[in-house]
Amino acid sequence: MNEIKLGSEHKVGIQEIDDQHEKLAILLNELYTIMSETQYYEEIETIVTKVINYAQLHNRTEEKLFIKYNYPEKLKHIQEHRNFMDKMSRAGEEYMTAFKSGDGNVGSASVKIWWTLKTWYHEHILNDDKAFGDWLQRQVR
Ligand SMILES: [Fe+2]
Ligand SMILES: [Fe+2]
Repeated sequence: MNEIKLGSEHKVGIQEIDDQHEKLAILLNELYTIMSETQYYEEIETIVTKVINYAQLHNRTEEKLFIKYNYPEKLKHIQEHRNFMDKMSRAGEEYMTAFKSGDGNVGSASVKIWWTLKTWYHEHILNDDKAFGDWLQRQVR
């Protein structure tokens, strides 16, 4: 498990989206730090909720742009967002439950939530978000 880094390859070319991806990376790394250090359930709950809410807000920002510009791939991309939010919520709940009960599954639950986020973060931005950014730039040129 290591830090999420945002490289130039992650830039989609839409300022608002790039800023939010950056903020998301900061929040995910914060989650990682708290997962490895805290003893307190409240801290876990706060950061997991923060990540979920911010991811939701971010996805909505993209979806508003899809509608505004009538992006042809919008349904597929929105579905990707839904799948991720479901996965993320499940992994979050699993992790919070394991942490609360202290039943020894905390380690595997935290690895799961981390990999869910990390994989999504890289794959979704590099594939789906970038495809949208490229498409939008072709429209406004
Ligand atoms: Fe995104
Ligand atoms: Fe997206």
